[in-house]
Amino acid sequence: MASYKNIVVLTGAGISAESGVSTFRDAGGLWEKHRIEDVATPEAFARDPDGVQNFYNMRRAQLFSVEPHAAHHALARLERDLDGQVTIVTQNVDNLHERGGSQNIIHMHGELAKVRCLSCYQIFDWLEDCDQQTPCPLCSRAPALRPHIVWFGEMPFEMDRIERLLYECDLFISVGTSGNVYPAAGFVSAVRSRAVAHTIEVNLEPSEGASFFAEKRHGLAGDLVPLLVDELLS
Ligand code: OAD
Repeated sequence: MASYKNIVVLTGAGISAESGVSTFRDAGGLWEKHRIEDVATPEAFARDPDGVQNFYNMRRAQLFSVEPHAAHHALARLERDLDGQVTIVTQNVDNLHERGGSQNIIHMHGELAKVRCLSCYQIFDWLEDCDQQTPCPLCSRAPALRPHIVWFGEMPFEMDRIERLLYECDLFISVGTSGNVYPAAGFVSAVRSRAVAHTIEVNLEPSEGASFFAEKRHGLAGDLVPLLVDELLS
């Protein structure tokens, strides 16, 4: 394995699956039980704010019953021990990377453990339930708080920073994502088009974008990510 100095790791729901967090599109996944247009769009929130808040309250409460596993811990070790920079760009809204010890994380689809005020625009750390009666801790307005989540039809967070990182990295690794949702699904092509960076897919099965990766490793993230990190650090 070459020695890499600037690594970007894109993660998706598959990295949290072994912790007990449902993925979206696998059998029994979240989008089989809930319709996207009912819970994950600005229009759904306008039409049925209580239903949308309940969906995210349920998912936020689940954070207390899950723990990071070997793959999260291995990525934290990579960040700590690599003689270079490691950035995790995650589509996941859980907090398992943080709890696994990673520090350099971009939550491009938002965070369950945060809400934001639609009136004063402040973002708050939030681990409890939130509803339309909950007042904003700063401006006291209600209803005003919404989940700090990127819904379908909204712009992912920090895209300028992510694009710069993709341009600068010498290794791009994708872990546990089906490659169905853009812009994340297009990151590998952006990196590949520069022809100077290596690309590796780690996923249970070939993703939609598997053919764009130079190297593919298929199996459980909890088995494969620690092995990959060992190789990168050796
Ligand atoms: P998906 O549910 O679409 O895909 C999860 C991928 O993880 C699948 O390809 C699985 O094969 C793989 N997988 C499952 N278990 C695994 C394991 N133990 N080890 C490795 N891989 C495993 O989830 P995402 O690709 O993350 O967006 O979905 C992307 C976005 O779509 C989400 O961020 C969410 C969703 O709609 C929003 O809500 C905006």
